[in-house]
Amino acid sequence: MIRGIKGIKDITPDEMPKWSVVERTAHALAHAFGFQEIRIPVFEKTDLYVHSIGGTTDIVEKEMYTFPDKAGTSLTLRPEGTAGVVRAFIERGLKTYQSSRKLYYIGPMFRHERPQAGRLRQFHQFGVEFVGSAEPSADVEVMTLLWRFFSSLQLPGLSLELNSLGVLTDRQAYKTELVAFLKTKVHLLCENCRRRLDANALRALDCKVPHCREATKDAPYLTDFLSPSSKDHFDRVLQGLQALAIPYSINPRLVRGLDYYSMTTFEVSCSALGAQNAIGAGGRYDGLFETLGGVPTPAVGFAIGLDRVILALPESTVPAPDPWVFVASFGEKGRPAGLSLLDSLRLDQVKADTDYNASTLKTLLHSADRLEAPYVVILGDDEVTNNQVILRNMATKEQEIHPLNTASSAILAHLRFRQTRRNID
Ligand code: HAM
Repeated sequence: MIRGIKGIKDITPDEMPKWSVVERTAHALAHAFGFQEIRIPVFEKTDLYVHSIGGTTDIVEKEMYTFPDKAGTSLTLRPEGTAGVVRAFIERGLKTYQSSRKLYYIGPMFRHERPQAGRLRQFHQFGVEFVGSAEPSADVEVMTLLWRFFSSLQLPGLSLELNSLGVLTDRQAYKTELVAFLKTKVHLLCENCRRRLDANALRALDCKVPHCREATKDAPYLTDFLSPSSKDHFDRVLQGLQALAIPYSINPRLVRGLDYYSMTTFEVSCSALGAQNAIGAGGRYDGLFETLGGVPTPAVGFAIGLDRVILALPESTVPAPDPWVFVASFGEKGRPAGLSLLDSLRLDQVKADTDYNASTLKTLLHSADRLEAPYVVILGDDEVTNNQVILRNMATKEQEIHPLNTASSAILAHLRFRQTRRNID
C-alpha cells in the first residue's frame, strides 16, 4: 500500500462539518468587511518567496518545497499567501480603479516543518490583505476582522499581542544597538541566532530556545526607537482597538518570522492548543510592493491557521446536520416510484438518499437505522396502488400518510416546519 506523506493529512467526511462552519464564517465575515475573494496559484517561481519572505528566514532557509520544472525553472509550493497576492496585484493591475482594495483567500499552504499536533506540512490558511491604505484604521479593521472571526466561532483562551517594528530607518537605528547588545551575550545564543546576528538580528528576540530568551531578556526595545510618526501610527492603532473593545497586550519581542513586515505586527495565540498555539498573525508590509517591482503601496493583512482553528473549535459551534429523508422503496411498482420521489425531493433541495443494495422493507429500514436517517419514506407496491406514501419520524416513530403525487412538497413543508421549530427551541 502506498501511504500518504508525513504531516499531510486527509480531511475525512466526518471532519467536514467543522471545516464547513469555519469556512462559511470566513467567507461571510470577509464579505461583510468588504473583502473580495482571490484565488492565487499553489506554486510560483521560487524567487518570489525568497525576495518577499526573506533569504535568512526559517521559511526560505529550511521549509520550502522547491523543485525544478522540466525547463529547469525553480518553483516552490506556496508557503504563505501574501507574496502571491502582491505578485497578482502588480501583474494584473488590480488597484487601477480604486484607492484601496481588500482581498481574501482560503487554501492550502506548504512548509517542510517537523510535524506535530497543530503543525503540518500541508496546512490551510484564511488570509486577508488590505491594500492601498497607510491609515491606522486599516490595521484596526484587519485586526477587528481577525478578532470577530475567532469570537464568532467561540474559540476559547485567545490573546492578541501586538508590536510596532517601525519603518526601515527606525529599525536600522535599533539594529545597531541590538547587535552591539547581543554581541555581549553571544556565548548564550543558539547556533541559528549567532549565524543570523548580522543579517537578521531581530529574530533573536522571539527565538524560542531558552538560552536565547535568557540572553535577550534585557535587550533594548524597538518601541523605544520609533520615530514620532511611527509612534503616532502605533498609538492610533491602539486607540482604535480600545474604541472597539478588542482586548490586546503589547509584546515588544514580537518580530514575526517573515522579513516583509514594517510598523504594526500582531499574533493571536490560543491557550486551548498545545505548543503550536499561534492561531493567526499578520501585520503591515508597506515595502513589499516595491521589493517585488511594483509602485510603493501600503498594505496590511493577516493569515489564520485553519487546522489550528479546527483543533480549538468547540463542538457547540457546529450546527446539527439538516434533517434528511431515506427513501425505502421496494417491489415492482414501489421501486421506480421511489426513484422518481428521490429525484423530486432532490430538485426541491431536500437531502434524500436510499440504499440500492437493499430491496426488502426490512433491509431498507436496517440501512436507514445504520445511516441514522431522521425520516424514512416507505413506498411499496401497496402504497403506489393507493397513491400514498408513509413518512416515518425515526426518533418518535410517528407516521404520517401523504398522497404520492404531492409527497415531495408535503415532506419539504414538514421538514421546514420541524427545522423552524428546532431553531426556535
Ligand atoms: P504566518 O505567521 O507564517 O504568517 O502564518 C499564519 C498562521 O498560519 C500561523 O499563525 C499559524 O496559525 C498557521 N501556520 C503556519 N505554519 C503552520 C503549519 N506548519 N501548520 C499549521 N498551521 C500553520 C503568514 O503566513 C503571513 N502571510 C500572514 C500575513 C498576511 N501577513 C500579512 N498578510
